[in-house]
Amino acid sequence: HHYVAIMAGGIGSRFWPMSRTNYPKQFLDILGTGKTLIQQTFDRYKHLVPEENIYVVTSAEYVDLVKQQLETIPHENIVAEPSRKNTAPCVAYISFKIAQKDPKALMMVAPADHLVLDINAFVATATKALDFVDNINALVTIGIKPTYPNTGYGYIQHDAPEVTPGVYKVKTFTEKPNLELAKTFLSSGDFLWNAGIFTWKVKTIIDSFEKFLPEMYEVFHAEESKFNTPEEKEAIDRIYPQCTNISIDFGIMEKADNVYVIPASFEWSDLGTWNSAWENMEKDYFQNAVVGNYVMVYDTKNTMVHVPDNKLVLLQGLEGYIVVDTKDVLLICQKDKEQEIKEYVAEIKRNK
Ligand code: GDD
Ligand code: MG
Repeated sequence: HHYVAIMAGGIGSRFWPMSRTNYPKQFLDILGTGKTLIQQTFDRYKHLVPEENIYVVTSAEYVDLVKQQLETIPHENIVAEPSRKNTAPCVAYISFKIAQKDPKALMMVAPADHLVLDINAFVATATKALDFVDNINALVTIGIKPTYPNTGYGYIQHDAPEVTPGVYKVKTFTEKPNLELAKTFLSSGDFLWNAGIFTWKVKTIIDSFEKFLPEMYEVFHAEESKFNTPEEKEAIDRIYPQCTNISIDFGIMEKADNVYVIPASFEWSDLGTWNSAWENMEKDYFQNAVVGNYVMVYDTKNTMVHVPDNKLVLLQGLEGYIVVDTKDVLLICQKDKEQEIKEYVAEIKRNK
């Protein structure tokens, strides 16, 4: 009865120019490990459930990329969304689809684009989550010890006593607070980041949709008998335009009162930016991280280089730079100015 749904429909705009709308971050080997993030994610969940119980939910336009990168996944497990509506419709879709087939299913919902290196610790935490929801109608999330006031995350505050070893009842869940609030949360020492990895019975999450997103619930519920039949695609094409664009965090996790958290026993990185990639890469004595097999660096420090294999690249005298080369775009940017990349990309789009 155990299933995993990998959400892989986001566009990862901060990894420009490697990550593009037509080729987002989950399909890239950002760290130069030989595997893309979705491949690493898929491998990680294969330790938990049989491959035929792993689904990937993604935009229709990325289905071919998923097929190419996950060669062994059954094609019927690649679930295509007709449009991008954020994670709540994505979770509703896969939950109704699995419930239609196996009403007693337990499910984990996971982002496709995170870095987790310690597989054993990950499996231990995930197993604890699956065991916990077997006995109780709970929405379980995994918590990460926060290190700085990132405003792109969810913040979780939990009760002191454990419900069972390693599991806590959540008091408050605040998605993407403003900077001031994030700072307050961090300094109180009382909060965890939401890793965005959820575990529940499909029945429990469907009940939560009914309660907190009743309109979305109704449109899926009305067509649920079509799932896993030849009529599924037509049904979903009717359903999606009726769904509001909202994340599962804002739509359900902030509102529900049966949320529990398991603090992670593994190291986790969201790999949100080139700097976080650099932090997680192997570096030479001068803190240079290099992906590319023909790169020569001289008098260069604290620099991140990501260039195609077999391209000869010579760098001299750089300190604190990001250098990313792709087929059609070259980026050279000061490492501590990477937040500005977003604005430049917006300008390129305006001028096109
Ligand atoms: N299928 C599908 N469809 N997947 C989507 C969609 C969609 O419309 N939108 C996003 N995703 C995928 C992304 O590819 C990613 O793997 C995952 O869902 C999470 O979406 P993000 O857009 O990356 O969310 P976030 O990073 O802003 O916030 C979430 O993750 C944080 C931790 O990284 C929240 O859960 C936060 O609370 C959490 O702290
Ligand atoms: Mg994210």
